[in-house]
Amino acid sequence: MTVRSPAGLSDDAIRAASIEKYRHRAAGYDSTCGPTWPIRERTIALLDLQPGQAVLDVGCGTGLSLARLRERVGDEGCVYAFDQSPDMLRQARDRVATAGWRNVHLYETPAQGLTLPAPVDALLFHYTHDVLRSPSAVERLLACARPGAAVAIAGIKYFPFWLAPLNIWVYYKNHGYNGAPGELRSPWDRIAPRLDGWHLTPTQYGMGYIASGRVRA
Ligand SMILES: C[S@@+](CC[C@H](N)C(=O)[O-])C[C@H]1O[C@@H](n2cnc3c(N)ncnc32)[C@H](O)[C@@H]1O
Repeated sequence: MTVRSPAGLSDDAIRAASIEKYRHRAAGYDSTCGPTWPIRERTIALLDLQPGQAVLDVGCGTGLSLARLRERVGDEGCVYAFDQSPDMLRQARDRVATAGWRNVHLYETPAQGLTLPAPVDALLFHYTHDVLRSPSAVERLLACARPGAAVAIAGIKYFPFWLAPLNIWVYYKNHGYNGAPGELRSPWDRIAPRLDGWHLTPTQYGMGYIASGRVRA
């Protein structure tokens, strides 16, 4: 059965568009992430990771979050990370090999098909709009976490109505990074109802957000 997003595109079509975009974007990706580095740090901090825990980096891209996640779970913990883009994941693999991390495990797979050896204690969604908009991806990822697992999300959204004219720019900014670039009013609305203790803070004058919750038991 073909799974369609509410935007009318199939998951497969959205994924193919995304993989193609990252084929061109991967080489320069890291150099664009400086301005959002504090957001990455804040989002990871919300997971409140403890030594020995297992965390999943959803759509890990080039692996920019891996060092911080690994630092927090320590040698006895475990970092799982996946991405569907071979071009992005290649850089993550190089990062892991260079650092010699033995407890960071990378998977080249769509979110919709991920399987892990054991349920994780925490899920990080850092700028993973397409994944959050796919009901089957959200379902699969929540199934990879234990009840009560911490979830932290950062991403882009539309400005509030009084800055609405700027949303054309927000749409085109998001377009460069996603197979299904729309649905920016409340990009979290497929996962938020599945979490306890949902809390959202707008960032970047309202064109971004950081949110957290816990996987419902
Ligand atoms: C904006 S990048 C963010 C990368 C990383 N999380 C970071 O913060 O630097 C979005 C990533 O999500 C990945 N992605 C998009 N849809 C996906 C899907 N359905 N399954 C797996 N990865 C996906 C893309 O390949 C891309 O690497």
